Amino acid sequence: MTDPCTFVIFGATGDLARNKLLPALYHLDAAGRLHPDTRILANGRRHPDRDIWLAEIRSHLAGAVRGGLSDEVFARFAARTDYMRGDLRDTTFYDTLYRKLSDNNDFPADLAFYMALSPAEYADVISNLDRAKLLDENRGWRRVVIEKPFGSDLKSARVLQQRLAAHLREEQIFRIDHYLGKETVRNILVFRFGNVLMEPLWNRNTIDHIQIIHAEPQGIGGRGATYEKSGAMSDMIQSHLLQLLTFVAMESPVSMAADAIHAEKLKVLKSIRPIPSDKVRDVAVRGQYDAGTVSGNAVIGYRDEEGVAGNSHTETFCALKLHIDNWRWAGVPFLLRTGKRMTQKQALVAICFKQPPQQFFRASHVHCEASNWLLIGIQPHECMRLEMTVKAPGEALATRQTGLDASFRRADEIVNDAYEELLLDIIRNDRSLFLSYEEVEQAWRIVDPIQQAWSRPGEDLHAYKAGSWGPTEADRLFDDPCRFWRNTLEPCGCGIKQL
Ligand SMILES: NC(=O)c1ccc[n+]([C@@H]2O[C@H](COP(=O)([O-])OP(=O)(O)OC[C@H]3O[C@@H](n4cnc5c(N)ncnc54)[C@H](OP(=O)(O)O)[C@@H]3O)[C@@H](O)[C@H]2O)c1
Repeated sequence: MTDPCTFVIFGATGDLARNKLLPALYHLDAAGRLHPDTRILANGRRHPDRDIWLAEIRSHLAGAVRGGLSDEVFARFAARTDYMRGDLRDTTFYDTLYRKLSDNNDFPADLAFYMALSPAEYADVISNLDRAKLLDENRGWRRVVIEKPFGSDLKSARVLQQRLAAHLREEQIFRIDHYLGKETVRNILVFRFGNVLMEPLWNRNTIDHIQIIHAEPQGIGGRGATYEKSGAMSDMIQSHLLQLLTFVAMESPVSMAADAIHAEKLKVLKSIRPIPSDKVRDVAVRGQYDAGTVSGNAVIGYRDEEGVAGNSHTETFCALKLHIDNWRWAGVPFLLRTGKRMTQKQALVAICFKQPPQQFFRASHVHCEASNWLLIGIQPHECMRLEMTVKAPGEALATRQTGLDASFRRADEIVNDAYEELLLDIIRNDRSLFLSYEEVEQAWRIVDPIQQAWSRPGEDLHAYKAGSWGPTEADRLFDDPCRFWRNTLEPCGCGIKQL
């Protein structure tokens, strides 16, 4: 169990808090993983008092928590929770907050401030916390959790960092990327560095290319105005997919301590070959969904969504080819692809091994033999599966693909939400799965030239039908016709192949 502390959630009435943070804290409470004295102080504007906020949260949790809401757990959860209405732009609010947290010893002295707010608010709120002495560490530790996105480009990320660094030490800042809390993502490190089997194969000699995919059937919901300011490249690639790439490509860290892991991830990001603005078309493809059918339901196109301009050039899909210029990965393309309104939900790392140096049988007419693939399923199905070619039973000499399964979870073991472990990491002061500022800066260095090129008039934006796997133009990122996008965990080339 963790030590007692106070979790102050700014933006506790918003989507992130309702859908992720409060359910995660409830689950931790239900599992007995929160100290009995740990308190939660929620802040928002829209609800006038604790009773009304709590009633709303109760009804929301009832539909959101695993196994249904327990009256007993909720009573315990409610008892540790308080609500303080207040406008964060009102500087007197912080003095009231200081008094509330300091008086009567109602709240443990160690404080974590969670910024579940629009990124535009972070710097001012932190500056106000400092002015009101809420960041003083005389009475206990002070940690601040920053949600993504951290800036909207390299320049704005630098400005934000300068403003935060005026009030906080780097060790107090927890830049969260919830993707890193997913157990399969953590398992990539265990799989790579806890087993000797893969290491000799984990390089340019045996790996042909690596794909990292995040596809979702949802559109942008009611968040058109927010999405218009970001797009798939900064929403997904700059953070989640580049982070996944670092886990797949990094060298073994000297320890599992945060600094050691950050150092290895940073080396990977720094080794990614810069993309000159006149080469963006060669390595990046963007798209925007049109009307179509997803899971049997007709859906509208992006430009018809609420809050979206009729002539919007915001991408809802992008695919990107990167090269890592180091000895391990020289010549191995890393292909990242993400999109909204795609055929189905699928987050996947697909590692394609090289083909055997000789065709199985010289007389064969089969030119694109099936490769071995290592598939790391992240969602909706967690798995680690190695696809192998085997002989199909029967007399004829024929092959098919089969999978060696190294999945780490038994059917009866529950899947925790990523936020649960990350919230505990904040209390435990474990920053290994949070982002260092240097990582954020390097990620923007990679993405910035592409965003700049795409902001020029006339740059390609390919329409794709909602419910598809994105625009076919993305296929051109492969320079070999035998390579193809891996969309799902279904075995590829699974049919029997006559040799
Ligand atoms: N939603 C997600 O699943 C998700 C996932 C990953 C990252 N994020 C990030 O998390 C952050 C929050 O996103 P969200 O979706 O939760 O946003 P949201 O639904 O718009 O909620 C914003 C919250 O901020 C509060 N707020 C805004 N201005 C305030 C002020 N002046 N004083 C006090 N409270 C104020 C709002 O309170 P009132 O409405 O009560 O005024 C509300 O609780 C963003 O940085 C987003 O990028 C969100």
